[in-house]
Amino acid sequence: MATKQTKKSAPKAKKVAAKTAAKYGYFDDAKKEYVLTTPATPIKWCNYVGTLNFGGIVDTTGGTLICKGDPALNRITKYIAQMPCSDFKASTIYIRVKNAKGYTVFSPFVVPTLTKMKKWECHVGLSYMRWIAECEGLRTQVTIFVPTGSNTLLQDIQVTNLDKASKEVDIIPVYEFSHFEAEKQLTNADWVPQTMTLKGHWEKDGHVVLEQYAYMKRDFAVNYVTANCKVGSFDGDRRVFLGANEMGSWAAPLSLANKELSNSECDRGDNIAALMIHAGKIAAGKTFRTCTQLGQEQSLKVASKAIAKYRDLKNVDKAFDELAKFWEKYLSTIQVQTPDAAFNSMVNVHNPRQCHTTKNWSRYLSLYQLGYGTSRGIGYRDSSQDLMGVMSHMPEEALELALNLLSVQRPEGNAMHQYAPLALAEDNGNEANAGDSREKKGVLDENGNPAYADWYGDDHLWIVLTIANYLKETGNMDLLKKEVPFYEAGKKRAQREKGTVLEHLKRSLNFTRTHLGKHGLPLLGFADWNDCMNLPLGAESSFNTGLYAKALLEMMDICEALGDTKSVEMYKGWYEDVKKAFNDCAWDGKWWVRWFDKQGNAYGTNKAKYGKIYCNSQSWSVISGIATGDRAVMGMDSLNKLLNTANGVKSSTPGYRGFDPNVGGISTYPPGAKENGGIFLHTNPWVMIAETILGRGDKAFQYYSQINPAAKNTKLDEFESEPYCYPQNILGDEHKQFGMGRNAWLSGTSSWTYQAATQFIIGVRASFKGLIINPCIPSKWDGFKVTRKFRGATYEIEVKNPKHVCKGVAEMIVDGKKIDADVAPIFTKGVHKVVVTLG
Ligand code: GLC
Repeated sequence: MATKQTKKSAPKAKKVAAKTAAKYGYFDDAKKEYVLTTPATPIKWCNYVGTLNFGGIVDTTGGTLICKGDPALNRITKYIAQMPCSDFKASTIYIRVKNAKGYTVFSPFVVPTLTKMKKWECHVGLSYMRWIAECEGLRTQVTIFVPTGSNTLLQDIQVTNLDKASKEVDIIPVYEFSHFEAEKQLTNADWVPQTMTLKGHWEKDGHVVLEQYAYMKRDFAVNYVTANCKVGSFDGDRRVFLGANEMGSWAAPLSLANKELSNSECDRGDNIAALMIHAGKIAAGKTFRTCTQLGQEQSLKVASKAIAKYRDLKNVDKAFDELAKFWEKYLSTIQVQTPDAAFNSMVNVHNPRQCHTTKNWSRYLSLYQLGYGTSRGIGYRDSSQDLMGVMSHMPEEALELALNLLSVQRPEGNAMHQYAPLALAEDNGNEANAGDSREKKGVLDENGNPAYADWYGDDHLWIVLTIANYLKETGNMDLLKKEVPFYEAGKKRAQREKGTVLEHLKRSLNFTRTHLGKHGLPLLGFADWNDCMNLPLGAESSFNTGLYAKALLEMMDICEALGDTKSVEMYKGWYEDVKKAFNDCAWDGKWWVRWFDKQGNAYGTNKAKYGKIYCNSQSWSVISGIATGDRAVMGMDSLNKLLNTANGVKSSTPGYRGFDPNVGGISTYPPGAKENGGIFLHTNPWVMIAETILGRGDKAFQYYSQINPAAKNTKLDEFESEPYCYPQNILGDEHKQFGMGRNAWLSGTSSWTYQAATQFIIGVRASFKGLIINPCIPSKWDGFKVTRKFRGATYEIEVKNPKHVCKGVAEMIVDGKKIDADVAPIFTKGVHKVVVTLG
C-alpha cells in the first residue's frame, strides 16, 4: 500500500498509484451514480436506502443493515460490520444454474461465493443500489431500494440468459435476522436464541410469507420476507440451510445441492429467510424477473396491503420512479454551474445527498458508528448542525427533528447530549442521555465537588443557529410561539415544564451567559465541539465563545425580525461583553488560544509542547465576528502556515504523544489521528467560511478542493474511503498513513461543506429580508450560474466576474430592475432572473 511505504521507496509507490488510477470506479454524473467496477474496494464501502423510519445501509457486496425507527432498539437484519468484506453479512442472493452433474452456484454480489465474474458493476445511486453481474452466461441485475414512505425493502432481481441455449435457473435470496435489541444479539446467547422465531405461511397459490419475530414482539412488530412469485421451498433455520450442523458455510451452503430447501421453521435459534425461487428454463435472450420484500409491520394482516402492492411489478417500477422524482425535486432546490466540474458534481448531487443521510441517521448508524446500545442516538449538537444542511430542501422535516431536539433541552437551558428516537416516540421518560460525560461521573475535585461537568458547553447553542436557519428559510415566525416541553428525566412529556420555542432559545443563551469562567469566556462543560478535550469544570473554551457569539448574532436577527428592539440591545450587550473578554485574554501573539483550564493555563498556545495551535479558535472567531482586523487575518494565516496540508487542514498540531489523563480523550489517539493532529474534516468548511468572510475566495476554494472526495477518485489506494461522500477524518501528516480517510458518511463535514459551498462560496443564503447573493469565488472564474428555490419562488441567478475579483457585489439586477443591496426580494412564486456583477 502506497501509504505504508517508507520515505525511501515512496517514488516507486507513486508509479503504482498512477498505473492504478481510477481502478475502483467512476462517476456517472448523468445518472447521478458512482459506478464500482470491482467489489475489492480498499475497505467496505456502502450506500443508504430509505430513512430512519425504515431503512439503513446496503454495502457494495449486497450486505444489508436494516432498522425501523431506531438502529439500537429495532434492528431487523444481523449485519456484523467487523466481518471481513468477503463474508456474508445479513443478506445475499444465490443464483443456481443446472448443469449435467448438478448445479453451479454464484452470487451476483460476489460475496459470499467469491465467484469470479465476467463483468461486475455496483451502481451507488440516490437511495438505491444496483448491481449488474455477468457470470455463467447470465446477466443478473439486482436493484435494492425502499419505496418512499414505506416499511419495505425491495429487491428487484432480473436474470437474463446471454447464451444461445436455454438455462435452468433458481434464485435463492437470503436474509439473516437480528434480535430487535441490536446489542443483545451480540451479548446474549441464551435469551436471544430462545426467543427468536420464524414461521412459514403458505398461501393457496404457492406464495409464501416468512414471518419472524422475537417472541415478546409477536403481537406488536413482526418482520416478514416474501416474493412476488411462487416459491418451491424455504428455510428459516440457519443450521438447516447451511447444512451438516453448520459445517456448511455461507460460501457454499450444503442445502443448495438439493432441488428444494427443507421448509425449516425456527422455534429458536438463528433465524434466516431463504426462498427457493425456481425461475425455470430461461430461453436464450429472455429475462426472468422477481422481486422480494423485507418488511416490518404490527402484524402480517397489517402487512398484507404492502405485500399485495409490491407483488405487482408495475408498482415496483412506479415506486422506483417515485424515488427518482423525490430526488429530482430535492436536488432542484439548489443547482450550480461553475467552471469547476468536481465542485459541480459534489454540490449538485453527492453533498446534498449526504446531508439527507446525516439528517436521518445523525451519528447513529454507519459502518463505523454501529448503532448498538442506547448510549448513542440522535446527537444534539450533531443533528442541530445536520439540519442546516437540509434546511433549504426539506425545512418542515428538519423542523420536526429540531423540535425533538428542543424537547431534550433541560429547563436550565443546556441540553441532553443524545436521544433514542424510539424511546422518544414511546414517551418513556428516559429517552435522552448525557453522553460521554457520565464516564467522569463520581470524579471529585480537591473540595469534594464533581470535577467534571455533566453537560457539554456547545450542544444547546447550535439549536439557536438551526432555528434561525429555519425561520430565515421559511419566514414562519409563528414557530417561535409554539410550546415545546423541556427535558425532565423520569417524567412523561405532558408533566414536564413547557416553554415556547423562543423561550427555549433564550434559555440556551442565558445558560451560557450564566456559565462564564474567570476570563469571562463561556465554560467548556464536559467538552465543546471537540469532544475529546475533557478538562475539569472551570475550563473555558474559545470555540464555545465563537459559537455563543454567533448564536447571539442570530438571536439579534430574530428579535429584530420580531420588532423587539429591547432584546436586540440586550443581546448586543452580551455580544460586546464576550467579544471584549475574548480579545482581552485569548490572543497568543500570532493566533487565538483554544482553551483555558480552571487554573487559567492556556491550551493552543505557542508555549505548549503539544497542541500549540488549534484550527477552530481561528475560524470561529472570524465566523462570529469577535476577531477583527489584523488579528482575524493573522489567525487564519497562522492556520494556513501551521495546519494546512495537501489533504486538508489539521485540527491541531503537534499531536500529543501519549495518553495524558489531564486532557483526556484527545491523547488516546496517536499523533496525526482524529482530533489529535488529524485532519478532522468537519473543521475544514469552517475555515472555508471564515476565508469567505475575509474575502479571500482563492483560499476558500483551495480549502474546498483539497478535501473534495470526488477529486480523490484517482488516489483511492491512499484515501481508501468512498469517493462519493465525505469521511469524518483523514490521517494527518504526523501519521505514517497520511491521506487515509475513515468514518465515511455520518459527519458534520457534509452539512457544513454544503453550507460553505452554497451559502458562502456561491454566496446565496436565506435571510429575513430576502435572498442574499454575495459570492466569494476564485478570482480566475469568469462567473457562474445558480438556480435556487426560496419561499415558493425560483431564482435563476447569473453571476458575472469581469474584473476577476473574489468578492464584492458591484451591481444586482432583479427581473430587469437594479437593486440597491445584495438581497433579492421575497417573491413567493414564479421564476425570477437575477444578474449579479462582481467588481
Ligand atoms: C464526532 C462526534 C461529534 C464531535 C466530533 C469532534 O464526530 O460525533 O459530536 O463534535 O467528533 O470531536
